[in-house]
Amino acid sequence: MTDTAQNSPFTKVNRKAFKHSHLIGIETLSADEINIILDLADYYADRLDDRNFKPGILDNQIVLTLFFENSTRTRTSFEMAAKRLGADVVNLDMATSSTSKGESLLDTIQTMESMLRPDAIVVRHSEYGAPQFISTIVKCPVINAGDSWHEHPTQALLDALTIRRRLGKIEGLNIAICGDIAHSRVAASNMMLLTKLGAHVRIIAPSALMPEKFPVGGIESFDNMQEGLEGCDIVMMLRNQLERMQAGLISSEQEFFEEYGLTKEKLSYAKDNALVMHPGPINRGVEIADDIADHKERSLILEQVRNGVPTRMAIMDILMKERA
Ligand code: CP
Repeated sequence: MTDTAQNSPFTKVNRKAFKHSHLIGIETLSADEINIILDLADYYADRLDDRNFKPGILDNQIVLTLFFENSTRTRTSFEMAAKRLGADVVNLDMATSSTSKGESLLDTIQTMESMLRPDAIVVRHSEYGAPQFISTIVKCPVINAGDSWHEHPTQALLDALTIRRRLGKIEGLNIAICGDIAHSRVAASNMMLLTKLGAHVRIIAPSALMPEKFPVGGIESFDNMQEGLEGCDIVMMLRNQLERMQAGLISSEQEFFEEYGLTKEKLSYAKDNALVMHPGPINRGVEIADDIADHKERSLILEQVRNGVPTRMAIMDILMKERA
């Protein structure tokens, strides 16, 4: 058999097991649904280097990307993923769009839907809940590419794929998520996803960057890197979300780095050969030292970026193929 739309591993059997028309967050996904996405992402990841692999699953479909906040990784990988599956991609450049003339989100969405009749919309927005709102007014699947500090589900899924491909499992791992937890949608989605898949998740943050509550039970919290990293298999660092942070929560970047920045010394508190992750963009010398970010064996940062494409291929395959 050749790789075509007809023999994608996402069969009718497991398609029925995926209950959602949109991907708004990890919160509503079951562990089985997460594994359906990861299994298909694994299949696409194995074929990513084969430029002749063109399954044509989304031939003649249109994916509209609406990024109301900046992005390098997420937007580019969604575009690449859609094109690998055969779709046409329209990126609305928000910096030069009519939103700068005061057009409402509702009017922008209705205008784009009327003009393009998209088969999926990928949206990043600074407003909490914007993708959910859009999903109530359009006829096609909506994929959340990050909304405020709420969720970034595709980042958590690609992080899980990266861990699974490197270590073969997620269940039972000790995973520390460190830094600006309070403002991080990546942390929120990862806490939920990793817990659903059976990992032991710890949060390490200064009290000013610790959320009032966690989105899921069973999370341990620490304000000290040495105590929090002990026995960890994975150390997941976060970007300080300055765009959502009140002034004064961090005294200085240098002090933050001294207490919470990941260095060789702090990483030695974790298990031998513990692996390092960061969703990017990374701030070197603030959240992570150069030699750790660039460590050939222990840093998974570029693998995370790479796994963004097959993860987003899997999500679009699952949400869009039925409509093709
Ligand atoms: N990790 C992440 O969302 O990166 P971008 O902001 O570059 O998309």
